[in-house]
Amino acid sequence: MRQTPQKIFLPAIVILLSVSSFAQRNVFRPKEVWLDKSGNHIQAHGGGILKIGSTFYWYGEQRRQGLDPEYRYVSCYASKDLVNWTFRGDALKLSDPEGIGDTWVLERPKVFYNAGTRKFVMYMHLDGPRGPGEGGYRFARVGVALSDKAEGPFRYVRSFRPLGMESRDIGQFIDDDGSAYLIFEDRPNGFHIARLSADYLSVEKDVCLIKAPIEGGALVHYDGLYYVLGSALTGWKPNPNKYATATRLEGPWSEFRDIAPPSTNTYGSQSSMLLKIVGSRSTTVIFMGDVWKPETQWDSRYLWMPLEIGGGRMWLPEPVPWKLDIRTGEHLLLRETKAGRGKK
Ligand code: DGJ
Repeated sequence: MRQTPQKIFLPAIVILLSVSSFAQRNVFRPKEVWLDKSGNHIQAHGGGILKIGSTFYWYGEQRRQGLDPEYRYVSCYASKDLVNWTFRGDALKLSDPEGIGDTWVLERPKVFYNAGTRKFVMYMHLDGPRGPGEGGYRFARVGVALSDKAEGPFRYVRSFRPLGMESRDIGQFIDDDGSAYLIFEDRPNGFHIARLSADYLSVEKDVCLIKAPIEGGALVHYDGLYYVLGSALTGWKPNPNKYATATRLEGPWSEFRDIAPPSTNTYGSQSSMLLKIVGSRSTTVIFMGDVWKPETQWDSRYLWMPLEIGGGRMWLPEPVPWKLDIRTGEHLLLRETKAGRGKK
């Protein structure tokens, strides 16, 4: 019996649809709204990633609409593949812990896991005016909170100035030997890479002070070189982010160089973390950046892209959709065509 045209074409249409829905689910789409598994825009701004076993936890500033203005919140999401995230709740809900004032801020939370104490240790930038009539960002301290579980609840412990210095943007770095470092920006002096104490509850030693006005600090160790990355101090406005390299954390560090064409202002983003994924075949280093929307912070986006890195060069390619194989560490940039999404 002869088949009708509909019957002949049906299987081909089904295959095309399933390929395209697979591509949709597992693709990083820089700067687009990134939904969690419940269909809500991921709220983990200025965030950081912690890996426990095969699970990645993403912590960040929770800025969804309708939050109680008395509190500041840190969200926690979990994922096995870095694309699909489950909201695990607000890991920290904090009311002004140091009497800073109504406009106090909690920014750039980062969580470390201490295998010795079996505690999750959260660092955060605490700031705001110190008294009525004073401008913002004068408190300039880190806050520390603790939890027994990755998703919290975290209990606030204290605030302090690391090594007695002002501290605004913070970043987190775990070296290949497991040593934990806090990166902090100390406006009068520069950019610190500082080792945490054994229990991670305090900052023990300044390993390096880079005398450059850099915030949004991030660090990665790749193929025998350290790469430090950060932005200029332009508030919420994007600027050309820059990097430097060194063979030792102590330095000496190279000159800072652009990570992307300066005219793009880092494609409208600001660095937050460098995430190294070591797989069975390859290593991918991901630039994690925030695309801030200061007037509608809940709508701020993320720009995550695999970096071109090696031999002292680090380069952020023009953002396009991309895929990562979490087991092999390989990534693939996807070029969109007019015919549809998800084409190589
Ligand atoms: C730039 C910082 O990187 C952000 O975390 C935030 O503190 C803004 N400045 C505020 O202007």
